[in-house]
Amino acid sequence: MTDATQPTDATQPTGAQSPITLRSSENGEAATGNFWREIGGRPTFEKLVRAFYVGVADDEVLRPLYPEEDLEGAIQRLTGFLEQYWGGPGTYSEQRGHPRLRMRHQPFKVNPDARDRWLKHMRAALDGIELAPLQDAMLWGYLERAAFAMVNTFDE
Ligand code: HEM
Repeated sequence: MTDATQPTDATQPTGAQSPITLRSSENGEAATGNFWREIGGRPTFEKLVRAFYVGVADDEVLRPLYPEEDLEGAIQRLTGFLEQYWGGPGTYSEQRGHPRLRMRHQPFKVNPDARDRWLKHMRAALDGIELAPLQDAMLWGYLERAAFAMVNTFDE
């Protein structure tokens, strides 16, 4: 089974690799673009994540999970990870190593309530960046699968 949280294959190039591009014909137009670039690169991802953490900052269940008083570090980590996953620069892994997100979330209680709150704030943030419907569906589909994969306890 693939882990929806991890960058998996060559269709998700990171800055460190040269992207493999599917073409519509020999030397033709790229059949698959670079999603990170298509939706506006860094500014779009940063806007998404900042809006998400505005929601988290006010959430009585999620906020206590973030030990640091200042959420800036968390903002940078999530932004960097998402950028890398969607074909942007590989800065996240240069700084943090392999994502191993399930493992990194083990110390935190991620139960279905936490997951649903996480997704609620992410949905609101995604609405705020007003992507085209297909792009929105693609990003949201991933985020939803990843959030479900992150649940590590059913304890209330
Ligand atoms: C399902 C609910 C989730 C909860 C409650 C949760 C909570 C947390 C917490 C408390 C941290 C530690 C603070 C930090 O280092 O930033 C963290 C880190 C992180 N989370 Fe989540 N998270 C959830 C889902 C996700 C999902 C779906 C993704 C990816 C799509 C994700 C990506 C990350 C990343 C990249 C980090 C930083 C890892 C590192 O480099 O140390 N999280 N999360």
